[in-house]
Amino acid sequence: MNVDPNREDMNVVIAGHVDHGKSTIIGRLLADTHSLPKGKLDQVRENCRRNSKPFEYAFLLDALKEEQLQGITIDSARCFFKTKKRDYILIDVPGHIEFLKNMVTGASRAEAALLVIDGKEGVQENTKRHCYMLSMLGIKQVAVLINKMDLVGYDKKNYHKIVQECKKFLEQISINPAAFLPVSGMNGDNIVRQSENMKWYQGPSVIEVLDGFAAVSFPKDLPFRMSVQGVYKFTMFDDNRRIVAGSVGSGTINVGDEVCFYPSGKRSVIQTIEGFSQKKQEMVSAGFATGFTLKEQIYITRGEIATRSDQPKPNVTSRIRANIFWLGKEPMEEGKLFYLKLGTTKVRVKIEKIIRIIDASTLNPINKGKIDKNDVAECILQLEKAIAFDLAHEIIETSRFVIIDQYNIAGGGIIQESLEDQHEQSLILKEESSEIKSNVIWHEGKVAYEDRCRLLNQTGLVIWFTGLSGSGKSTIAVEVEKELIKIKKLVYRLDGDNIRCGLNSDLGFSKDDRVENIRRIGEVAALFKDAGLITLVSFISPYRSMREFARKKVGEDNFIEVYVKADLATCINRDPKGLYKKAMSGELKNFTGISSPYEEPENPDLIIDTTKLSIQESVQEVLNML
Ligand code: ADX
Repeated sequence: MNVDPNREDMNVVIAGHVDHGKSTIIGRLLADTHSLPKGKLDQVRENCRRNSKPFEYAFLLDALKEEQLQGITIDSARCFFKTKKRDYILIDVPGHIEFLKNMVTGASRAEAALLVIDGKEGVQENTKRHCYMLSMLGIKQVAVLINKMDLVGYDKKNYHKIVQECKKFLEQISINPAAFLPVSGMNGDNIVRQSENMKWYQGPSVIEVLDGFAAVSFPKDLPFRMSVQGVYKFTMFDDNRRIVAGSVGSGTINVGDEVCFYPSGKRSVIQTIEGFSQKKQEMVSAGFATGFTLKEQIYITRGEIATRSDQPKPNVTSRIRANIFWLGKEPMEEGKLFYLKLGTTKVRVKIEKIIRIIDASTLNPINKGKIDKNDVAECILQLEKAIAFDLAHEIIETSRFVIIDQYNIAGGGIIQESLEDQHEQSLILKEESSEIKSNVIWHEGKVAYEDRCRLLNQTGLVIWFTGLSGSGKSTIAVEVEKELIKIKKLVYRLDGDNIRCGLNSDLGFSKDDRVENIRRIGEVAALFKDAGLITLVSFISPYRSMREFARKKVGEDNFIEVYVKADLATCINRDPKGLYKKAMSGELKNFTGISSPYEEPENPDLIIDTTKLSIQESVQEVLNML
């Protein structure tokens, strides 16, 4: 590898249709900038002479690849060359799955692209597809090389015709090339040297165009985003701190800044910034891998996005509208399951709807139900749970994703719109995928639900109390429990506060966490019902769809929804834990009724209005119904 760490370098993608002469141009660039290993050019020429075949610059590439096979470098899709100005890393697009993956995961960035087009054939299918990909990945600096000019007699008219054709296409996908150049890779016209054969062209050579491109810096001015790679514990010297590590995709962060992690919504303050094998820093910005410690320990995991509380929030949802391009052998169809990877998050994904499929080479819509290899499509994607992201026009770094089929990257895309969550849909997806993931099936025992009911002399039942904090759910449940034990019924309470002390201690009060909170308790309640217990569930459970989920899990006949009703003013007035006060002063975020929604039951089995009934009367209502 020739890249000098003390010099600026630039990643350049080279794209184009097969046979349009990419390899020849790469060979030329390497040879004419004297970037080849010593003796390589002579060796290849000599080889050709011995085999009586004419020398071609493209052979240089093959020779280099062969060397690579022998273990000199493992990366066969990249070449290196240097100019006076900087070192270039040329990334060949046929290896584009790797490149795509690296672009999306942020491991590498292409700052510019060379698009090679045959001066005789003009714009072909693959060229267009590659362009589409470049445009989606947000590569802005593009130079178009109209190649093989020697084969068309260096004809100016012919060149302009193809330039026009190309411009028209690129415009449609918002690529505005910095330059068009007539070149011949074969003869070296306008690659490194000005052409003697095309006096009518007064513009720069390929090398001059490249040197004229600006090194694209990481977006420091955008809001801070860091995809959390992991949380690591210091292991030496009894150190209890934990380091939150990741790569900064955009923005900057300073010691003392308040950070907020999404999708969880958890907050803390940066205590120290730990550079890798460096001294402590006060600040870190986009483009660097880093780690920081927090003042207050909070439970976060890989996949969350760290942001700054004083800057715009990312989107958090489990439904998105996205543009994707498909590279998988198997088509992408509605209903099939894949993984979506954005930053360090990886979730199950399913197409909810294909809005339209576009033929990337004509940009015309195609009328069909599945997305085939090389198609570009706009679709609505359903994720197994909410993730944090930005929209493509806001922060491209946190809007790009790849789609993984089995273990391979099968496509990529960018998020255009954040759509409203459909929790039930994502739960269904979660269940479908867990079946696929582990292939598990329910293992039937030899004791049936009915056997347990007979033993206990009761039927399994879930009484689900829902209502605002302070409405009286827990108080009523405690009394009902006592009364039922008196009449020899086996009863057990699942209380929101209690469960959050143990089983659900990893959950907070974001929408996503509340959904997970109720999903787990719905599952537990269903098991308790199966055990033959009478279970009293008292959770705010603010989302209608989640209460419906629990009802379905337990079974319609054994589920009783009790709406413990008290208006907000009454609850604020009662404020038994002083939480409303905190919520209203802003000290407590996402508080139900104040800064987080409560969806009233539309058709509960029982309403208990605790603004009118005493505790005793309320308990009696429940017992009467039972
Ligand atoms: S739920 O919305 O996810 O169903 P859950 O019933 O488990 O809530 O927990 C509610 C209890 O947590 C409340 O009784 C209250 O004591 C406590 N709590 C703490 N923060 C909040 C908050 N932001 N919103 C609601 N309850 C909160």
